[in-house]
Amino acid sequence: MWSGSSIGRRAFLTGTLATGAAALTTGAAGRGVQSTLRKHVYDANVREIDLGGPIVKTWVYGDRLPGKELRVRAGEPVEVRLKNHLPADSTIHWHGLRIANAMDGVPGVTQDPVRPGEEYRYVITPPDAGTFWLHSHGQLQTDRGLYAPLIVDDPDEPGDYDHEWIIVLDDWLDGTGTNPEEVFHHLRSGGHHGGDYDDPCLGHLGMHLGDVHDYAYYLINGRVPEAPRTFTGRPGQRVRLRIINAAADTIFRVALGDHRFRVTHTDGFPVRQRETQSLLLGMSERIDAIVELGDGVFPLVAHPEGKHGTAMAVVRTSGGAAPGPHAHPRELDTCPLLGTGFVATDDVTLTGRPDREHDAVLTGDMHHFIWKINDAVFGEHTPLPVRSGEGVRLRYVNRTMMPHPMHLHGHTFQVINPDGGFGPRKDTALVPAKSAVDAFFVADNPGDWVTHCHNEYHMAAGMMTTVVYT
Ligand code: C2O
Ligand code: CU
Repeated sequence: MWSGSSIGRRAFLTGTLATGAAALTTGAAGRGVQSTLRKHVYDANVREIDLGGPIVKTWVYGDRLPGKELRVRAGEPVEVRLKNHLPADSTIHWHGLRIANAMDGVPGVTQDPVRPGEEYRYVITPPDAGTFWLHSHGQLQTDRGLYAPLIVDDPDEPGDYDHEWIIVLDDWLDGTGTNPEEVFHHLRSGGHHGGDYDDPCLGHLGMHLGDVHDYAYYLINGRVPEAPRTFTGRPGQRVRLRIINAAADTIFRVALGDHRFRVTHTDGFPVRQRETQSLLLGMSERIDAIVELGDGVFPLVAHPEGKHGTAMAVVRTSGGAAPGPHAHPRELDTCPLLGTGFVATDDVTLTGRPDREHDAVLTGDMHHFIWKINDAVFGEHTPLPVRSGEGVRLRYVNRTMMPHPMHLHGHTFQVINPDGGFGPRKDTALVPAKSAVDAFFVADNPGDWVTHCHNEYHMAAGMMTTVVYT
């Protein structure tokens, strides 16, 4: 008999449900079912991309932005070949997936960088269903266009909705007369000027929310608001939105005109459902929400918090004029819910007493644009040791004036609220200025794993350290 573990069952179901392309081989004496390895290729290219008017020369997977979504099933191994046609080293990281360390895609930590003209074979088996994304882990490469949605389906999930729409948010500057390296150089030479931020609901988040104010465009699914992507459905239908913030330096506030979101997942994991009219997503956070479609044409707007501009898509269930590029649904002005504001459902809540506690203290020197964890930039850092099987409490302590979306590789963590109560299960938590977030995780995936700020410019400036198994 095949194992009774959930992975075994998932693998079994996956094999059984696989159709067409997957050849099935039954093991001896009904011992199990294996599907052939599904194979994908991601070509990292320099391309000209049409953002819906502006044409930009940039770096993308394939010939589109975002890259083609990678869709896999929980428990099913998949092969992805990265072919590097860029003029720089690259790798792919599978954001949020608890996979083998050697496949994690962090150059210099889990693998050698993939050189120009070379290719690399990744084989990953995502254990958890949910909304994830893949992106380059090369220096400042995600702020070009090297990212794509990564959706892991659960064969057991009822799929209680009529449509599923993937919404990818981005801040864009590459190919508009500048590029991420230039912007980084400018920041390093004292060009830092965070605009002050003051919001009645979110004032506690920080004095300012981003460092880069050179973004020419804000995009949903690679389009400017003047030429938005249109999603169509019928009134009364239910839609699952999978919202991914792929931006490098921008926190987005999201609202859909005349609709409410019923939030179901944060970073792929189910939460106790809550309704809200607006949402706030830090860089690399994901939120899944159900909306019930009204009758009409509606703007889906993502506002870059603390910055000027807008990202927009259109939701259409009937005829009528599309909203203009400056549409501002009133829902946008309601107090948004943050990813860390939810509570995980019981079945995915990680409980346990920490065997070990570590602090990751976040500091920054704004003038020289140097960002540190535990008083060291990456490379000069002291790794945080854990032992296999331990429960670990990692406390992100933010001593700076801005929020940092802190991400841990190879594990997902239980957010523990300041009152000791459970928050959501996540892989990235937005840590407000002058405040702390407790992340509890189980050390069950040996290797050297980075934890870093998902502001790409902060990461490039040193805000990264490692958790290592001893
Ligand atoms: Cu989205 Cu180090 O990762
Ligand atoms: Cu940061």
